[in-house]
Amino acid sequence: MVAAQVLIRAMSAADVPAVRALDALVQPSPWSEEFLREQLVDTASRTLLVAEGPDGSQVGHAALVVLADEGHVTSIAVDPAHQRSGIGSRILAALCRDALARGLSALTLEVRASNSAAIGLYRQFGFAPAGVRPRYYVDPDGLTEDALVLWIHDMSDPVFLLAVETAGVEADGGFADRTRRSF
Ligand SMILES: CC(C)(COP(=O)(O)OP(=O)(O)OC[C@H]1O[C@@H](n2cnc3c(N)ncnc32)[C@H](O)[C@@H]1OP(=O)(O)O)[C@@H](O)C(=O)NCCC(=O)NCCS
Repeated sequence: MVAAQVLIRAMSAADVPAVRALDALVQPSPWSEEFLREQLVDTASRTLLVAEGPDGSQVGHAALVVLADEGHVTSIAVDPAHQRSGIGSRILAALCRDALARGLSALTLEVRASNSAAIGLYRQFGFAPAGVRPRYYVDPDGLTEDALVLWIHDMSDPVFLLAVETAGVEADGGFADRTRRSF
């Protein structure tokens, strides 16, 4: 599957079991279905998106929480069978467009210090490291890991705007991306 074939749309309650199942594949401490449903209620301060393949299957999801004029990317995941094909970039770009549409002034997130895949994705959008939260992640096995705190302080930065505009377009020259994007 190429990223341009993927439809990015708002998450609904019907998507929650599939979101939970995907999360359980890629996250040591996945969000519960109950927590996900709670997140869906407050649309004024939250945006939750899913990425849907051409056959209707869910291949990814992401979430943004708004606090004052800042957006916090609290979750992003792509089905391991479809990673590294630009889907994560498409979903993140959609969240960033939402943040721009909301008029937010900055974006931030935490990422495991060892998560080179996610760090690579965020760097492409211009997220820059601003600090470390020691032992931020506590896994079910009791092990801990530091979080890197990344920020985009200038949402008019050309690197950021170019990444948001072009994510996923390269895969097919932009044709399918323009025809299937709904978010
Ligand atoms: C992070 C994640 C969402 C990326 O999704 P994806 O669809 O594979 O990402 P993309 O294909 O759009 O890749 C975009 C960029 O991210 C980086 N990247 C993605 N996967 C990578 C990997 N396995 N190794 C190194 N860099 C990687 C690269 O810079 C890549 O650009 P490139 O392909 O031009 O080199 C995915 O790996 C995932 O679901 N991981 C598990 C959940 C997770 O860690 N979420 C982040 C929590 S903070």
